[in-house]
Amino acid sequence: MVNKEKLVIETERLLLVPITMQYAEEIFKEFNREITTYMSPKPAKDISETKAFIQHSIETMNAWINYQTVILDKITKEFLGCAWLHADNPKTPELGIWIKKSAFGKKIGREAIVGLTDRAQKNLDFEYLFYPVDKDNIPSRKIAESLWWILQKDIDGNDIVTNNQTIDPNSEIHWVEYRIPKKQK
Ligand SMILES: CC(C)(COP(=O)(O)OP(=O)(O)OC[C@H]1O[C@@H](n2cnc3c(N)ncnc32)[C@H](O)[C@@H]1OP(=O)(O)O)[C@@H](O)C(=O)NCCC(=O)NCCS
Repeated sequence: MVNKEKLVIETERLLLVPITMQYAEEIFKEFNREITTYMSPKPAKDISETKAFIQHSIETMNAWINYQTVILDKITKEFLGCAWLHADNPKTPELGIWIKKSAFGKKIGREAIVGLTDRAQKNLDFEYLFYPVDKDNIPSRKIAESLWWILQKDIDGNDIVTNNQTIDPNSEIHWVEYRIPKKQK
């Protein structure tokens, strides 16, 4: 178990704090079909699923590995969404984010992602962070492109697209992958 205080990330307008059960209702309410259009996980059918996810995240949180946060407004502490670093393979941790619908378009997504990647650069030893995005997820791709992350291409210069079934049998995701190399000191 780690000292959770140390795992808080502060940016100009936001706090990213380790997830706790206190956010179960908001996550259950806000993580809906519209949000998950381009995501592999799908909305929980019952709040017990959300609580099980939070419990698992708390139990497996280990410093910056499996780092699952809620994004809060720094002043009001309003819940704005979630961001995470999942490192099944510590050499190539995966970065992810969702913002609640009512907070879209305020550059919160970019600010949170920048806070998270900066902290990962400082605290984690990795080869690259990866950010899988559905090829049609324009806002998410714009964040990656604006930060100059590296889009993976094949030998002919075409984007590498991987088709993945989601947990919903009727939905498929078409991932492209951005990579963020470890900064050399
Ligand atoms: C992707 C997401 C996190 C972006 O968060 P956000 O705070 O709304 O995004 P930002 O305000 O930081 O904007 C990022 C860029 O997308 C653009 N953008 C935002 N909404 C857009 C839309 N509906 N259509 C086109 N561009 C859009 C912004 O103008 C900005 O572009 P810019 O750099 O050219 O100014 C948010 O849309 C989201 O949670 N989506 C659902 C979950 C999801 O898909 N997560 C990502 C999985 S990879």
